[in-house]
Amino acid sequence: MSLQGKRIVVGLGGGIAAFKAVQLVRELMRRGAEVRVVMTEAATHFVGPITFAGLTGKPAVTNLWAENYAGEVHVELGEWADAVVIAPATMNLMARATSGQANDVVLATLACARGDVFFAPSMHHRMWAHPATQSNIRTLTDRGAVVLGPVTGALANGEIGEGRMMEPDDIADEVESHLAHADDLSGSRVLITAGPTHEDLDPVRFLGNRSSGRMGYAIASQALRRGAEVTIVSGPVHLPVPSGAEVVRVRSAQEMHAAVMSRFDRCDVLIMAAAVADYRPEQREAQKIKKGGSLKLELVRNPDILADVGAKRSQRPSVLVGFALETENLEQAARDKLERKAADLIVANEASAALGGDTNRATLVEAASTTPLPEMTKRALANQILDRVRTLLTNPSQRPRREAKQEAPN
Ligand code: CTP
Repeated sequence: MSLQGKRIVVGLGGGIAAFKAVQLVRELMRRGAEVRVVMTEAATHFVGPITFAGLTGKPAVTNLWAENYAGEVHVELGEWADAVVIAPATMNLMARATSGQANDVVLATLACARGDVFFAPSMHHRMWAHPATQSNIRTLTDRGAVVLGPVTGALANGEIGEGRMMEPDDIADEVESHLAHADDLSGSRVLITAGPTHEDLDPVRFLGNRSSGRMGYAIASQALRRGAEVTIVSGPVHLPVPSGAEVVRVRSAQEMHAAVMSRFDRCDVLIMAAAVADYRPEQREAQKIKKGGSLKLELVRNPDILADVGAKRSQRPSVLVGFALETENLEQAARDKLERKAADLIVANEASAALGGDTNRATLVEAASTTPLPEMTKRALANQILDRVRTLLTNPSQRPRREAKQEAPN
């Protein structure tokens, strides 16, 4: 019973899969959790609150004005819960959660949630594929919520498509594995770089790359959830800051270098997820470059941040993680970087699988092991990386003692 002692609010939206929430509540309780139920008014058309009262021994709350609750039920439940699981999460409910509405007990509890938030979407496949839903999912995920499913299968009208709510047992598995990590990085200071760098050519143009920053931000929000103190040194990205993280905004590789070098001796873990430009224009023109004939750009090397920290690794951090984005010879190239930059772990990505999207396929390369992982969400990959970081932190013998060779000055 590995949810023993955990407190979980199950929130229902108004969808046909609401009947499966009954099974979910039972399953969470069977695993040891204490469960309370909140429902939208629409959800009560699909399943009765009395069913949940019978199961949990507490009344299911269906509106903010419930007479059997003195005080603010949403504030109390938001504070009480280690996790809030919205199942089924309808298109409408997620849209309202995204826009920060709090006009029913489910949304208000979500808005007050102190613990982890999970959405198990359930809707017709065209509603799921709708750009509004996809954009809302992205926003909710960027804010740290976990979206479980949906899966492909038979929908309410008999069609087969992506939109079916994950099975209750699978939702319970995910919630359980998620809560199992809680606080295992507490006391660790984690510095994460994220996003691209922009190397200015003139006041309006720059050289950049297609990194979205999502991987680094996913690591940041998972590290926070696991109890770490987190600083993000962030290149230019359009992502919400995970709540609780300190953010240092930079633009160029040189600025990122300065921000990391002035902080790395105060952290236990450095994760270099940023796509740092290896080169910058030799000169930044003060005025906008006017068109003429052909134009030749002279580029010079940027400092290698990871290698520079690797060269000083006796001064901390204890664990050094780099990324390698490759288009060929993935593992060998990652192993070279591991050695050259004195890192403990290189997360090797194929360029085609890594950039921009919500999923990633990576291989974890360490001195004594190579672990290819299946394609997974960036959140799931973030946890795989942090699992390794945690092991390396607690087992210094698995970390190399060497230092990186300092590269030629730039
Ligand atoms: N990195 C860095 N500073 C740079 C360039 C890269 O700290 N100037 C870090 C990245 O954040 C990443 C790792 O080094 O964690 C690998 O980046 P990559 O550009 O693939 O490494 P290079 O050594 O530049 O590889 P290549 O020789 O293939 O260009």
